[in-house]
Amino acid sequence: MRSVKNFLAKTSRALVSTTAALVFSTAMVNSALAADIAITYDNSCAACHDSGALNAIKKGDSAKWQQLIQQKGMPALVESVKGGMIQMPAGGLCDNCSDEDYRKLIEYMSK
Ligand code: HEC
Repeated sequence: MRSVKNFLAKTSRALVSTTAALVFSTAMVNSALAADIAITYDNSCAACHDSGALNAIKKGDSAKWQQLIQQKGMPALVESVKGGMIQMPAGGLCDNCSDEDYRKLIEYMSK
């Protein structure tokens, strides 16, 4: 993460006056954010959703995730994580996730 930021800072200093640099650094920031979600997933949700422990829907089981997203809707799923479920602890082991983070994590798992 830090090295990505350093790289970005150096790169944008070097190329700062061109439009290409702007497009390039925007792409870098976007991929850095995507990496954050992957790290958050690994540190929290993965404990159960990677292996399907305790019958959690597995990451990558898109058919099941899509069905759930359609049935309950994304806002309800975010609420489920925040409030916890039968086996899932409230917050899903992420102490500092926002609603937006949960939405991204659910989308990440559904792919
Ligand atoms: C300790 C294990 C565990 C962790 C950690 C965990 N989950 Fe879950 N999750 C489950 C289980 C098990 C279920 C199935 C429902 C149940 O039995 O609680 C579930 C269900 C869900 C559902 C479906 C909710 C619904 O309304 O049907 C969503 C969405 C979800 N998890 C998201 C997440 C996200 C996002 C994280 C990480 C921030 C996470 N979970 C972390 C175990 C876990």
